[in-house]
Amino acid sequence: MSAAETQKRVEELGAWFQNLNLNGVQTAPQHFLGDYPAVKFARFEEALPNDLTGQSVLDIGCNAGFYSLEMKRRGAERVLGVDFDERYLAQARFAAEVRGVEVEFRQLSVYDVGTLGEKFDLVIFMGVLYHLRHPLLALDLIREHVAKDLMLFQSMQRGSNDAMQVEQDYDFWQTEMFARPDFPALYFIEHKYAGDPTNWWIPNRACTEAMLRSAGFEIVAHPEDEVFVCQVREQESESDVTRATRQAKGSFRA
Ligand SMILES: C[S@@+](CC[C@H](N)C(=O)[O-])C[C@H]1O[C@@H](n2cnc3c(N)ncnc32)[C@H](O)[C@@H]1O
Repeated sequence: MSAAETQKRVEELGAWFQNLNLNGVQTAPQHFLGDYPAVKFARFEEALPNDLTGQSVLDIGCNAGFYSLEMKRRGAERVLGVDFDERYLAQARFAAEVRGVEVEFRQLSVYDVGTLGEKFDLVIFMGVLYHLRHPLLALDLIREHVAKDLMLFQSMQRGSNDAMQVEQDYDFWQTEMFARPDFPALYFIEHKYAGDPTNWWIPNRACTEAMLRSAGFEIVAHPEDEVFVCQVREQESESDVTRATRQAKGSFRA
């Protein structure tokens, strides 16, 4: 396909969020974060295995497929990109066609990952959490249904970039930690943030880490402020939330 034809198709596919280079054509050259997500990826790419031969990858909220295509380039055997927005999936399918790689893109919400009935060696969950009304539910579902080993995770974060050591329990009358900026906090966006009504909950760093742990992930690398490489915690057969709910049934205290 010529550069002129590529340019025409890129324009027909609507506004792009991810800037990809397709046949020399930039899909989102005006992105407010620059050459995104390539500039971001450059800051943490070495934290991921360079050789994914034989591995399966699930890219949740794949958008135009930047990470899916990159994992395929690293040799992954099977890459499935899912997003609930069919507009972005059309862009991703076109990008894969231009690059000549085989990646499956499917319309699916993160809340429905259980319907895949399959676990993946690497789950990519980048830039989606803060767009969700139910972020912890999404993490629990990923942990329970699709994460076999590693998860590459990113969230926008606001507030303090420090994370205090949280205690296992606090006395009812102990309240001073809630005023600490490094206590886990999830900021609720009732209306819009950055002009975007799909931004719902923005964690500080302590909260990102606490949510990942609570959902059954161990953080094994933190290569960039917003990026975490996590491993499924082995001995955990159910998420902390599931266990807490089960225990609460037997000993509920108001
Ligand atoms: C900020 S973009 C991030 C795209 C890409 N993962 C990245 O890091 O560059 C958020 C993406 O998540 C998708 N998304 C939002 N809510 C979703 C949901 N409930 N299920 C699946 N995808 C969702 C959006 O359509 C969009 O493509």
